[in-house]
Amino acid sequence: MSEPRVVVITGGASGMGHGTGHRFAENGDQIVVADVNSNLGHAVVREIEDKGGRAIFHDLDVSEEESVNDLVAWVESEIGPIDVLVNSAGVLQNPMPITEMSMEEHDRMWDINNRGLYMCCRAVAPHMKGRGRGNIINIASTTSFVAWPLTAYDPGKTSVKMLTEVLAAEMGPKGVRVNAVAPHITATPAIQSRIDAGERDPAKIVAQNALPRMVEVEDVAEAIFFLCSPEAKAITGVTLPVDCGFLVASSYNTYPK
Ligand SMILES: NC(=O)c1ccc[n+]([C@@H]2O[C@H](COP(=O)([O-])OP(=O)(O)OC[C@H]3O[C@@H](n4cnc5c(N)ncnc54)[C@H](O)[C@@H]3O)[C@@H](O)[C@H]2O)c1
Repeated sequence: MSEPRVVVITGGASGMGHGTGHRFAENGDQIVVADVNSNLGHAVVREIEDKGGRAIFHDLDVSEEESVNDLVAWVESEIGPIDVLVNSAGVLQNPMPITEMSMEEHDRMWDINNRGLYMCCRAVAPHMKGRGRGNIINIASTTSFVAWPLTAYDPGKTSVKMLTEVLAAEMGPKGVRVNAVAPHITATPAIQSRIDAGERDPAKIVAQNALPRMVEVEDVAEAIFFLCSPEAKAITGVTLPVDCGFLVASSYNTYPK
């Protein structure tokens, strides 16, 4: 157990954000579930409270600068200094050639996954730098490292990895660490709905991993928790794969003979 912290989780109502909220709440941290989906967000708060944890919901649309700035100002004045920001709000893409994705869909994805994440980092930066402490965690992806047929999503996740590195270098001298996790395909509601619709096959996903299993939300939450812990005090600027060995096995298994 480390000192209780104020932990803001964008996209905290579902998937990676949901699991991460539970993990930090077990440590006694105060969780701020910030999400565009208020029904789910309030339900997550109730779940955490039912387990004896501390959580509160706040509306957030990461694609709106005013909404991002309102959230950060409200947490800082009403809840306490933000110790940890986890940027988990995001949307996924179905595979398609570049010609089949409309520019509206492309721009919407970048507004949430990239511009939104950028604005959240930008809003907490002066507070964390001013106090000389803090952790920011971004959710990248294994697509930050390899190309898939996701023309808007892949470049966006590579950009998240690079932003993580840039901000780690900028904010490190002020005592703030900035890291990312790169999960491989994980059965969050966003992926489970595609599995249920027959669009994704878990057996094929597992077959590409070194470890014969899928990544679970708890695996990602645990990695995020570690990166924000005192034990990780020498780690900044990394994008840590949480991928059951997908990145190594996929290249190893396709070695051309
Ligand atoms: N599931 C995977 O396989 C996987 C793998 C790698 C990376 N990721 C990344 O993890 C992150 C979380 O994805 P997930 O799988 O948990 O999805 P999810 O759909 O379960 O959760 C995403 C959450 O973000 C919220 N959200 C969406 N748009 C928002 C907005 N404009 N403002 C605020 N909140 C918003 C949703 O309401 C939802 O609660 C995303 O960045 C995603 O790209 C997911």
